[in-house]
Amino acid sequence: MREERLKQLREKMGKAEALLVTSRPNVFYLSGFTGTSSQLLITQKEAFLLTDSRYYIQARTQCPLFEVVEISGAVARLVQERNIKTMGYESSMSVASFQRLQGYAPETELIDFTQELSDLRAVKSEEEIACSRRAAQICDAAFADILNVVKPGVTERELALELEFNVRRRGASGMSFDTIIASGPRSAMPHAEPSDAEVKEGEFLLFDFGAVYEGYCSDMTRTVVVGEPNEKQLEIYDTVLQAQEAAVAALRAGQVCSDVDRIARDIISKAGYGETFGHGLGHSVGIQIHEDPRLSPSCHTVLKENTLMTVEPGIYVEGFGGVRIEDLTVVRKESAEILTKTGKKLIKL
Ligand code: CO
Repeated sequence: MREERLKQLREKMGKAEALLVTSRPNVFYLSGFTGTSSQLLITQKEAFLLTDSRYYIQARTQCPLFEVVEISGAVARLVQERNIKTMGYESSMSVASFQRLQGYAPETELIDFTQELSDLRAVKSEEEIACSRRAAQICDAAFADILNVVKPGVTERELALELEFNVRRRGASGMSFDTIIASGPRSAMPHAEPSDAEVKEGEFLLFDFGAVYEGYCSDMTRTVVVGEPNEKQLEIYDTVLQAQEAAVAALRAGQVCSDVDRIARDIISKAGYGETFGHGLGHSVGIQIHEDPRLSPSCHTVLKENTLMTVEPGIYVEGFGGVRIEDLTVVRKESAEILTKTGKKLIKL
């Protein structure tokens, strides 16, 4: 699998004689290395993994395609020994690192290779999709468990702890981002942090969370009502659900991201809640929880087959509460495959 990736990368290198990979997600993507403190230096013929003695054994085990070398002084030495005249780099490195690199290699032309790496990662292999699918299954199961624990008086923090325990116990290596659990008026904050607020009868309760399995993320959101919903809650929930389902139904390879966003946004606007839907409809997912492309008004990328995308419209009313419904999907040729299997009918607890 990683042989194929390195081959694709080398085809994209163009005039860059070497490529210096410094971000952890890209180091993992290309080499399989899961530790920190490492970089890759890749040429058309050679591939080096630069790290320190804490990781020598791990790196040699995880990365058979790479020669493991001591990181200290390695970039300067390799650039000099191989007389590298042009080298790709990632723009996410710090200004200090970039300046050091210019110092090591004053004669080398540095080429920003960030976009090429992002493009390479956007389209997933079936092996990568299978990891995110497993992460989504773990979250479906953990969500079913947590519903048994929800009752008036339990706090958001207690629910978050229980949910995360369930996710880890089911085989995930961790959460893919800080869990969002928001009850009542707090659910109007799209990225609320779990607090000591207690769950109350008649209020919305929003869960947004994801798992990491074999290095790949999942992402899902469900909003439930504790007790009986009122008219306004039903109206908001039904509008979000309609928007979410219409967007998922339109999702397929060849669609423009902003067009899919507009389908959901139009439905929410027509219901009179357009102003409250401030974020994009969705984002790509993979090794990182937020990857490109985005389903948003400003992203005009054409969706490619085998891209993982979330679809997550929301309505947020300050002082009242909010609803978001999110599925993780795989963009296929004719439609979207939905990886999140939890039902979307309003759950009354
Ligand atoms: Co999301």
